[in-house]
Amino acid sequence: MIDWPSRLNLAQLPTPVTRLEKYSAQLDGVNLWVKRDELTGTEVSGNKIRKLEFTIAEALNQSCDTLITCGGLQSNHCRATAILATRLGLKVHLILRGSEPDTLEGNLFLDYLTGATITYLPQDQWRTHETLAREIQQDYSKGGNKAYFIPIGASDEVGLWGYIAACQELQEDFETLGFEPEYIVTATGSGGTQGGLIVGAELFKMSSQVLAFNVCDDAAYFERKIRSDITLWMQRYKQEIAVGRLKINTVEGYVGQGYGIASAEVLDTIADLARLDGIFLDPVYTGKAFHGMVSEIRRGEQGKLAGAENVLFIHTGGLFGLFPQQQYFQFGK
Ligand SMILES: Cc1ncc(COP(=O)(O)O)c(C=O)c1O
Repeated sequence: MIDWPSRLNLAQLPTPVTRLEKYSAQLDGVNLWVKRDELTGTEVSGNKIRKLEFTIAEALNQSCDTLITCGGLQSNHCRATAILATRLGLKVHLILRGSEPDTLEGNLFLDYLTGATITYLPQDQWRTHETLAREIQQDYSKGGNKAYFIPIGASDEVGLWGYIAACQELQEDFETLGFEPEYIVTATGSGGTQGGLIVGAELFKMSSQVLAFNVCDDAAYFERKIRSDITLWMQRYKQEIAVGRLKINTVEGYVGQGYGIASAEVLDTIADLARLDGIFLDPVYTGKAFHGMVSEIRRGEQGKLAGAENVLFIHTGGLFGLFPQQQYFQFGK
């Protein structure tokens, strides 16, 4: 029996699972399925809302009236936090990496529409973002507010619950489908989705392997980060799992030139999926991970998804990040 912590009901759940009919037809016997977590909401969509159901519940348990979080200029997590805070009557303060751009686009535009307070921190000072967050937290405290700090991507021992709970939902999906896929695939950026899926797969005794494609950092980073989050989760929530036995499978090689920069091949994959099955990926997270997944499937027995018959891709959202990069797509010009 799992002793679940407090949780708010914020996401539109359960999300559907869709088979990619036309894309799968190109893959020589591999069926691709998508868990449509981009449909957890319209403006507050994607994977972040599953984590924030637990994170904001914790903030409210601690009687906080303000949320502070941080991320890139086009952070989906910051946008989701800003909108949810506004809906729940909380103040929100975002620390964004970089300087204020001339044009407000995508997620950043939505951040401004919510009226979030924004502090820009230049890239070369980014390593100090947690210190800055703590200073801002103290400033709120002096002003009579109580601010809760949410780390990047809400990826910590609290946010881990989001994808542990998603695994319970997946179990029901698999029952309906009548099989468990050999692989569950996700993009990984701050590790919380990957970590939650790994713990959830273990708790719910799933046979599927969790494979994550990193969009920044490297496999060694996710190995450390996720083991540390899981260890803190076990301590805080008095849970026992054999953490040493858990496999943290991060597939490297698809970051390309860097975080947020998509190669022509990734953009082509995004356009192909939109044209074939009408599903939209983003260039920062899901596009890279989906491209990595199908590239590995095409490598057959040499690839990381060798032997797969059914593969479930978690669509973690990110649509608003597509628009600031629309100029990189070529349409037969
Ligand atoms: C759209 C999208 N997909 C995937 C991820 C990666 O999830 P996580 O931060 O839990 O690793 C993020 C956030 O980083 C995201 O915004």
